[in-house]
Amino acid sequence: MAESILTNSGLRLTDKVAIVTGGASGIGEATARVFADQGARMVVIADIQDELGNQVVASIGTHRCTYVHCDVADEDQVQNLVQSTVNVYGKLDIMFSNAGILSPSDQTVTELDMSQFDRLFAVNVRGMAACVKHAARAMVERSVRGSIVCTASVAGSHGGVKSTDYTMSKHAVLGLMRSASVQLAVHGIRVNCVSPTGLATPLTCKKKGMSEEKVKEFYAQNARLQGVVLTPKHVADAVLFLVSNESEFVTSLDLRVDGCFNYGR
Ligand SMILES: NC(=O)c1ccc[n+]([C@@H]2O[C@H](COP(=O)([O-])OP(=O)(O)OC[C@H]3O[C@@H](n4cnc5c(N)ncnc54)[C@H](O)[C@@H]3O)[C@@H](O)[C@H]2O)c1
Repeated sequence: MAESILTNSGLRLTDKVAIVTGGASGIGEATARVFADQGARMVVIADIQDELGNQVVASIGTHRCTYVHCDVADEDQVQNLVQSTVNVYGKLDIMFSNAGILSPSDQTVTELDMSQFDRLFAVNVRGMAACVKHAARAMVERSVRGSIVCTASVAGSHGGVKSTDYTMSKHAVLGLMRSASVQLAVHGIRVNCVSPTGLATPLTCKKKGMSEEKVKEFYAQNARLQGVVLTPKHVADAVLFLVSNESEFVTSLDLRVDGCFNYGR
């Protein structure tokens, strides 16, 4: 009886080993917390903000969460991240490839700053591809029917008045997910995207130069769905669905968390 209570704990990620890139802040942090709350054996936060990442680990608990410095733009660091996770925890079940940046300038097409463009692509596209590549290799090698989720955006399906490089990068993330999901299906590995619309995180607050409350107000004014403001926890809950057994037959999906986003209204 006691055993059945333990095994039927209702937790959705019992015994899972997960990596969350960009887990020191925003959507990644919220998702690391949800994974740990749902019984993951270990959540490995991979980020470049070491102090913040270690603070998140301390607040979640070092028995469930750990921090690894990893710049996803550097493939060697990504490979080390995945290898060290597998070496220490025995396997990799979940890769939440989420780290992403915005360029400091507006990046309209006529004003594209190509060095900013290259830096953004190194993180948002090449980094995302390296994370999918090495996670998939680790899963295939150990016959783990794992789940990979990439953070795209509504900008992956729409053009915008600025952030051309970002929009291009998120279109590329959808292409990566669609290719990987087809190629990895034979191994039972699922690959999906989560695509939020705008929400207040350190990324958007910094870009807009506004407080969290002001950014929330800004997005609420532009939202179609009324009565709720998108938070990192909403996105984390969508990711939880994609990595849990409840989505066991779901792959190649772009799960939009956008409150019926209507570009241009
Ligand atoms: N906030 C939004 O409105 C929004 C909307 C749609 C999609 N997204 C996407 O969600 C993801 C998370 O963004 P967020 O809003 O939580 O931002 P955030 O800035 O709060 O978190 C992103 C994290 O990624 C880390 N990071 C940046 N570059 C990295 C690198 N090279 N290697 C490893 N880690 C790196 C940062 O240090 C940070 O901790 C991004 O991919 C972003 O494009 C955000």
